[in-house]
Order: sequence, then structure tokens, then C-alpha cells
Amino acid sequence: MPVVNPGEYFVPPYIEDIPENKYGELVKIGRNIFVNTQVYGKRYVGNGLNCSHCHLSEGRKANAAPLWGAYGIYPMYRIKNREVVTFQERIQDCFKYSLDGIAPTVDSPEVEALTAYAHWLSTGVPVGIVLPGRGFTAVNRSRTPSTENGEIIYKTQCAMCHGEDGLGYKHEDGSPGYMFPPLWGPDSFNRAAGMNKVKTAAQFIKANMPLGKGFTLTDNEAADVAFYMWIQSRPYDPRRSLIINIFMPPPGGGG
Ligand code: HEC
Ligand code: HEC
Repeated sequence: MPVVNPGEYFVPPYIEDIPENKYGELVKIGRNIFVNTQVYGKRYVGNGLNCSHCHLSEGRKANAAPLWGAYGIYPMYRIKNREVVTFQERIQDCFKYSLDGIAPTVDSPEVEALTAYAHWLSTGVPVGIVLPGRGFTAVNRSRTPSTENGEIIYKTQCAMCHGEDGLGYKHEDGSPGYMFPPLWGPDSFNRAAGMNKVKTAAQFIKANMPLGKGFTLTDNEAADVAFYMWIQSRPYDPRRSLIINIFMPPPGGGG
């Protein structure tokens, strides 16, 4: 069983070690939904993203909101929901906002399988402990974000993968979804998603982007490019009326 060492990131179990039994079958289904939501979670998804486009390395990577950092700390109080939410309810929020879709019920096969996958990845994680690497990373900007600088960073460090137009690149073999996911536009997360908050996006970008070069941007640079993303168009906040969405784009929330 993996051990939690202070000062080190938790190491989740290896895929080869998924048990060959009914539980293991559910874990494998959950993993498929997580890495290829476009196919296995299709009926609840409204955009072009997979869970693993934001929760990197199949939900295993520290500082990319790993599933093992989340599973053991739910149920917890969330300001966004103004109530205590369970792990299953937290997943529903990412379907509604990050995937711009609809929430599967908490007892749906999809949520059950995703929960089993998170449970298995968290083998050996103590309950109720916030582990290092949970969520993203801290960002402390020292000035107002600059759109001009954000655009320069985008064009020089992001556009080669996410496209000059930010709309990403689909799989070349025609399979559903994106090889390089869109950062804005109709196939991206909606205005109510956590990633639509400049602060949250900056924290994600700082730790994880450019892909493979996490922690190379400064805090101000991460905030600048996050702000540049925020001013682009994307699906509206489904919790609000269309009129309010047109005139007052809300700042986002945490799903
Ligand atoms: C567009 C990016 C994006 C996508 C796609 C996405 N999420 Fe998330 N998810 C986030 C963000 C942002 C957070 C908030 C992390 C934070 O506040 O530190 C989050 C948080 C979570 C959490 C809670 C993490 C914690 O530490 O409390 C879970 C569980 C989760 N997502 C599951 C999923 C699942 C399952 C899917 C696919 C059905 C999914 N997410 C798709 C961006 C995304
Ligand atoms: C080398 C290619 C590459 C570069 C360069 C890159 N990204 Fe990404 N990015 C990806 C891939 C691929 C993913 C999906 C994660 C995965 O599949 O591992 C991703 C995911 C994301 C996501 C979350 C998913 C989404 O579509 O919203 C954001 C936000 C993001 N990148 C922002 C940026 C920003 C900002 C930069 C520039 C500072 C950048 N990326 C540079 C390849 C890249």
C-alpha cells in the first residue's frame, strides 16, 4: 500500500495493479470515463473536453487537482454551493460547468464508476487530510493583470498547441474530442466553471502550462495569460438568464 511521506507527493497505485474483480471492473470503467469523457460520458457532456484535460495524467498529477487529493476530504463545505457537498456532488459540478453539460444523478453508473476510480487512486490516503499537491498551486500577483502581456505570452508559449484562435486541435484520426483542448469558444468550459476564474486559471497554468514546463511562468505572467483567456468568448453561465450573461459576464465559481 502506498505511504504518505511528509514533504513528498502521494504516489497513487499503478494501473497494472487494478484488481481483477468486480470492483476492479468498475474502477476501469471510471478511468475510461475520466480520460475519454467524450465517448464514455458522452450523454452528459456539452463541450469537447475530457476530465483529464484539466486533471492531468489521468487525475494522478500533483498540483493538477489530482483525484487522490480530493477523494478523502469530501464531504466538505463549499461556498459555491452554500452547503456541504459530497464527492459525488462535486463531480456533478464539473459536468455542469467544466464540461458545459448536465449533471448525472449521484447514483448514475457514470458517477459510481468515477467515484470508484477516485477511491482506488486514493488507496492508502488518510481520510480528512489535505495532502500536498491537492488542487493547483498558490499564485500571488503583484499588479493588475495585463491583457497586452497576456496576449504576448499566449502567442509565444501557448498558441503552438492550443491554436492561434484558442480553439485547440481535434484528434487527427477523427476520434471524438481534442488532442490539444480549446481554451475558449463553444467547445470550452462555461462561465460558471472554476477555470473561468482568473485566479483559479492562473493557479492551474502556473503549475501545469506550457505542458511539460510547469512552474516556468512567473505569478504575474500566469495571471496575465489567465486574464487574456478570460476576456475571450465561451459558453454562458447556465445558472443565469441569457440577458444577464450578455451584459454582465459573471466572474465564475469553482466547478
Ligand atoms: C475545464 C477544466 C476541468 C474539467 C474538464 C474538469 N474539471 Fe474537475 N475541476 C476543475 C477545477 C478548476 C477544479 C477546482 C480545483 C480547485 O479549486 O483547486 C476542479 C475540481 C474537481 C474536483 C475536486 C477537487 C478537489 O481537490 O476538491 C473533482 C473531484 C473533479 N474536479 C472531478 C472532475 C471530473 C470527474 C471531471 C470530468 C467529469 C472533471 N472534474 C472535469 C476543472 C476541470
Ligand atoms: C506542448 C503543448 C502545450 C502548450 C505549449 C500549452 N498547452 Fe495547455 N494543454 C495542452 C494539453 C495537451 C492539455 C490537456 C492536458 C493533457 O491532455 O495532458 C492542455 C490543457 C490546458 C488547459 C486546461 C484544459 C482547457 O482546454 O481548458 C488550459 C487552461 C491550458 N492548457 C492553458 C495553457 C496556456 C495558458 C498555455 C501557455 C502558457 C498552454 N496551455 C500551453 C498542451 C499545451
